[in-house]
Order: sequence, then structure tokens, then C-alpha cells
Amino acid sequence: MSSSTLQNAFQKLAQDAIGELSSSSGSRIIGLGSGSTVAYIVRELAHLPGKASIEVIPTSLQIKLEAEKSGLRIADENSIPRVDIVFDGADQIDSKFYMIKGGGGALLREKVLILAAKRVVIVADSAKFVENLNKPVPIEVHPFARSFVSNRLAQMSARPILRVLDKGYPFVTENGNLIIDAAFDFIADTRKKELELKSIPGVLEVGLFSRIADVYYKAKNDGSFEKIMP
Ligand code: A5P
Repeated sequence: MSSSTLQNAFQKLAQDAIGELSSSSGSRIIGLGSGSTVAYIVRELAHLPGKASIEVIPTSLQIKLEAEKSGLRIADENSIPRVDIVFDGADQIDSKFYMIKGGGGALLREKVLILAAKRVVIVADSAKFVENLNKPVPIEVHPFARSFVSNRLAQMSARPILRVLDKGYPFVTENGNLIIDAAFDFIADTRKKELELKSIPGVLEVGLFSRIADVYYKAKNDGSFEKIMP
């Protein structure tokens, strides 16, 4: 979040998004994606009057630390089949509401929670809403399969780049894997591409998300927000 008006929009919509909890049929297990947007929501959850009755499942240490700071109870992965609602951000959302996620490298756990949850709420600033997905797609890859997967991606006309940190060290996910960011000229069919990429041996998860969320919050630069229910 850059401007303060965008932050205002964000704070207001986070409160509204928390209101989604009341429409979640009484269950109180909340999945949390990762990134700066979700950190915002976690800080709002901290003020929830009924917070003692909720448990959260974070998808990264970043969000686990935020949840701990906010005094939220943390459930373990055995509770994933009972997740009632997930709050998450996105890197890009297209006109059909498909998403690219994984900018922070948490895509594998985010995919599990988003597919497990009864209800999914996505929050993003307006710049992330686009007509067509055109960012490189993050792909979580087992280290043993790095060259093999890169090669396969190149055969699929992608431009694969191993994600590295500022000092040149490879980025390692919290699951001990690598991320290859694969740029495609055009993704005609997101679902099909997601499955195609997922079928490459050594690919553990793909940052294309074709489950359509129940609610998308769009934060605007003028301090307002839009709530979209596809
Ligand atoms: C984490 O790996 C991602 O999927 C995030 O949801 C995405 O990168 C959005 O992050 P921000 O909320 O920090 O923009």
C-alpha cells in the first residue's frame, strides 16, 4: 500500500471483510493467506470482540507472527478440512476473476486453504485488477527437478526464471522448495494452463488460481472500496 488514501480504503474494507465472518454459519476456523494485505486483515481481526472463539491457520511464518502479535489462537493443519473462510491477497485478478498468486512464495499453502475453505475472500488494490493475467506465474518446484522443469517450461514457450533474493541466493519456500517464475506471452485458458503446469513432474504447485472467490474487495486510490461478488 503506497498512498494514505489507499490505506484508508484498505482499513475500511478490512473491517467490512471481517464482517464476512458473520455470514459464515458459525464456524470459527479462519485460513490466512500471506503478504502485506493479509497482515492488515490480521491486525483488524485482533479487534474482533469474539476473537477468543476463533482459530486461525496461517500459510507462512510472516502471517503466523502477525497472528501471534494479535493474540489470535493458531490451529494446526489437522483443522484444514474444517476451514470456514479464507482471507487472502493476490498479485493479479483478471476479468474472469482468475488470479495469479505467489509473489511472496506462499502459493502452495494458499492453494490448499483456498481449495479447502467453504468461503474465500480476496482483498487487493485496484491496480491488481486487469483484463488478462500477464505477470510471470510463480511455480513451486522440488529442487531436484529444477533443470527438468525449466526445460519443460521453455518447451511450452514460457520464459522461466529461478527466483533469487537480492544478494543472489535462491529463494527457498517454507516447504524447502524453489520458485520458478514463468512468463507466458498470453494465457488463453487459465484452468487448462494450471493443470498443464501441475502435471509436470517436480512441480508441487502453480500460482494460477482458478477457484473463483466468493468476494473480491477492490481498494481504490480515492479511499473508497468496491465489494465484488461474482
Ligand atoms: C503470497 O505468496 C501471495 O500469494 C500474496 O497473496 C500476494 O503476493 C499478494 O501480496 P501483497 O498483499 O503483499 O501484495
